[in-house]
Amino acid sequence: MSIPFRSREGSQRPSASNGIKLKMPKNKDKIEESVLDMTLRPTRWDEYIGQKHIKDNVKILLRAAEERGHIPEHILFYGPPGLGKTTLAHLIAKETGRQMKITSGPAIEKVGDLASILTNLAPGDILFIDEIHRLNKVVEEILYPAMESGVLDIIIGKGPSARTIQLDLLPFTLIAATTRVALVSSPLRSRFSGGVFRLEFYSHEEIGKIIERSSKLLNIVLEEEALKEIAKRSRFTPRTANYFLKRARDFAQVKAASAKNSGVPKQKSGNILDKKIVIDALNMLAVDDIGLNSSDRKFLEILIEKFSGGPIGLKTIAAAMSEEEATVEEIIEPYLIQLGLLERTARGRVATKKAHGHLGFEFKEKQEKLS
Ligand SMILES: Nc1ncnc2c1ncn2[C@@H]1O[C@H](COP(=O)(O)OP(=O)(O)OP(=O)(O)O)[C@@H](O)[C@H]1O
Ligand SMILES: [Mg+2]
Repeated sequence: MSIPFRSREGSQRPSASNGIKLKMPKNKDKIEESVLDMTLRPTRWDEYIGQKHIKDNVKILLRAAEERGHIPEHILFYGPPGLGKTTLAHLIAKETGRQMKITSGPAIEKVGDLASILTNLAPGDILFIDEIHRLNKVVEEILYPAMESGVLDIIIGKGPSARTIQLDLLPFTLIAATTRVALVSSPLRSRFSGGVFRLEFYSHEEIGKIIERSSKLLNIVLEEEALKEIAKRSRFTPRTANYFLKRARDFAQVKAASAKNSGVPKQKSGNILDKKIVIDALNMLAVDDIGLNSSDRKFLEILIEKFSGGPIGLKTIAAAMSEEEATVEEIIEPYLIQLGLLERTARGRVATKKAHGHLGFEFKEKQEKLS
């Protein structure tokens, strides 16, 4: 079954046009998701819903740079997957009329890769590095002087005859994104002079507006109650909302076609979505009425059943789920915490009373005081 968010993994393939490696999704679902991302990606500030604090700050930064005749300073965006980091980078490029080169932390394996990317930038270009937390240390150190003083320090040769040459780079703006800001070293973080911005989860209302726009672009007639149902289950995340909308449309289309073939009269067209169709489609994806999917429920069930609700360490619970720690930490936990189903404490992860209630487990007050 497909999972409505993108994993951190991606295979690499060089782009034909500029030699820079692009992140390519691995399987069919991921490819479909990234096509959907591109189709529905806002292209103007007013189409980019929410994140007001970031929009206001970035707009001022861009305006001030333009007025001074400078290029915009380096910016870092962080937050859970699907909240709009890449979209912001594209918007900045579009609004400032600059060319943007795209790469990602794991794609820049060697110092030479970064040197070739930086020396191939045209003046004023934007370089977007996705998953910057996966940049290796040696490459990261080359980035410091490039960001700070626009120079590239390259060591030529080995041993006693090694020497450093310094190349002047053309001015560029680095925009970086990460889902794991804690893994970005503080020297690197401090070099984002334009700001380090955290993307917040969206409200139901904001998600509603995003779904409304997407439904128009995808030519879907969405009844009010159906829209609310998708918004409610979308993990406060635009990518998930768009994915659910498309899935519900596919579901409705197949239902409508098979009803027509079997001669059922007055069947709604596949492009009209009502509450029932949406609920049926999302139930098929095993997404419950508060947006938990099977991985979220498995996480909570293991935490409650195997570990008496916690506290338990991330490593242990990830191993018990046969899941990668990064997936648990970046994708599963943020939403559970946001819903108040999970707490991260100094001693480990703890399932709340609400989590017990939602999954039908009895909640026993913790034996904290037992010595
Ligand atoms: N503020 C927004 N308004 C409207 N649509 C949005 C917004 N943010 C994101 N989206 C939609 O969600 C999709 C996913 O956003 P995006 O690719 O920018 O997420 P991301 O934060 O870069 O995720 P990842 O960490 O997985 O790379 C976009 O293609 C766009 O359609
Ligand atoms: Mg992205």
